[in-house]
Amino acid sequence: MLEFHRGRRLRMSATLREMVRETEIRPQDLIMPYFVAETDDADFRKPIGSMPGQYQLSLAQLEKQVAEAVKTGLRSLILFGIPAQKDEAGSQAYDKQGIVQQAIRMLKDKWPDLVVIADTCLCEYTSHGHCGMVSKDGEVLNDPTLNLLSQTAVAQAEAGADIVAPSDMMDGRVAAIREGLDNAGYQNTPIMSYAVKYASAFYGPFREAAESAPQFGDRKTYQMDPANALEGMREAAADVEEGADILMVKPGLPYLDIIRMVRDSFDTPVAAYQVSGEYSMIKAAAQNGWIDEHNVVMESLIAIKRAGADMILTYFTEDVLKTLNG
Ligand code: PBG
Repeated sequence: MLEFHRGRRLRMSATLREMVRETEIRPQDLIMPYFVAETDDADFRKPIGSMPGQYQLSLAQLEKQVAEAVKTGLRSLILFGIPAQKDEAGSQAYDKQGIVQQAIRMLKDKWPDLVVIADTCLCEYTSHGHCGMVSKDGEVLNDPTLNLLSQTAVAQAEAGADIVAPSDMMDGRVAAIREGLDNAGYQNTPIMSYAVKYASAFYGPFREAAESAPQFGDRKTYQMDPANALEGMREAAADVEEGADILMVKPGLPYLDIIRMVRDSFDTPVAAYQVSGEYSMIKAAAQNGWIDEHNVVMESLIAIKRAGADMILTYFTEDVLKTLNG
């Protein structure tokens, strides 16, 4: 009698498959990114061409959008701001009345239980579009940027942000932000660090969404080379040492090996960002009828979780929540 493994036994019915399923997407795993624009036009709701289904929103429109999402179980979101004015030092990032600070106050006032995360970076606020201060000859300056990032995080915490998420990739920024938060009395505000952030072409659509494309050069002197994995572990170790509470890997699907390495090497919660380009590729193929959008979305999110992410930042959050509750 021929002996062999019958793996199919456990796949014979939908219920049985469900019983042996190892990975699941839960509403509390998902974080929805929103783009909030500073504008007097309360009706402002501008579609982002390169990200079908995503919008730049006025404060009032953001409130409407989040109200709907909360009904379907939204637990957490991350905010990106589009200021009316940009300058060399990105001052709207840390202004108490900056658009993200206004949005945080509005959201926490309406939904105290919502976990509001603030992306802590300067690139949406600087006239040159870089994530830090820039010297006369175009170098992105590390140390002079740290204080501005720290001020940004404090302004966000002051407005009520539950978590700050530095995405700039300057060296030492987690330590600077931790110190700033502690000195201002925000010892309990966690830092979700974009610890392993690659200089990725997958951010293309985001730069249209956030109007944050660098006006010269690129981000390769601060974001990581996609070819490097071990370097990512050094970045993560540095951030943990400096006080990061949650480590993020970004992008998501093309970097599953990195998510797994971070999961195995560190004991902090791990987040992964399914970025704009990942979103838009799925959308475009689905709009052409080439793939089934929902199934591809769920499979990609499962893959990211299976690789070791505890939470996922994804523009599909609202869509997925509808189906999880449906
Ligand atoms: C800001 C920031 C970026 C993203 C998140 N925070 C853009 C960048 O680094 O160029 C990208 C997110 C996405 O592509 O969805 N530094």
